[in-house]
Amino acid sequence: MTLDLTKPQIQDLPSIKEILSQWNDESETQKYFQRIENEIKGQIEFDMKFWVLKDEKKVLGIGGLSNCQPKLKPFIQTNNPKELKTIFLNQAFRGKGFGRKLVELLQSKSLSLGYKELLLVSAEKYRETAYGFYLNLGFKQLGEVEGGEVGEKMAVFSKLLTK
Ligand SMILES: CC(C)(COP(=O)(O)OP(=O)(O)OC[C@H]1O[C@@H](n2cnc3c(N)ncnc32)[C@H](O)[C@@H]1OP(=O)(O)O)[C@@H](O)C(=O)NCCC(=O)NCCS
Repeated sequence: MTLDLTKPQIQDLPSIKEILSQWNDESETQKYFQRIENEIKGQIEFDMKFWVLKDEKKVLGIGGLSNCQPKLKPFIQTNNPKELKTIFLNQAFRGKGFGRKLVELLQSKSLSLGYKELLLVSAEKYRETAYGFYLNLGFKQLGEVEGGEVGEKMAVFSKLLTK
């Protein structure tokens, strides 16, 4: 097995869409997919950039980094934070350490880019699949913010990065 964190290529887009649609409804899948496609086209907003975890040519998972949303401001602890975005693994590959690998590689990437902490928001619907995962990786749950849907609460997690 040759695991690598690489930039998404046009030929990866069908696998990326399939992974996104395993976990999201159609409109969310489209929203996330559009952001990845936009980056490939060179249309980057909020410094939002994505990577894929691949075994040879097979896309196992997706993740991104962006500038922090303004509502995360109260939780920021350093002068160079970034937000972890869109962490999704192909469900056939869950529970085998690939999620850990994906996030650890994104952490190394962040450190090499000079970022000092990673924050993320996670919706209630991911409580079972993701909250314990992030805690296991050393993230701390700092509080909650309002989410995209009216009245929806999103948990805020953060991790200070050290070499
Ligand atoms: C969350 C996700 C990326 C985790 O990836 P994964 O490959 O299943 O997780 P891993 O096998 O790498 O687990 C890493 C560690 O976290 C632990 N862990 C994983 N999921 C967990 C959970 N839900 N609760 C508690 N611990 C968990 C594992 O036991 C493992 O521990 P260890 O390294 O000490 O043995 C993946 O399951 C996924 O895509 N889930 C659905 C979408 C989702 O929730 N995305 C996050 C949106 S914010």
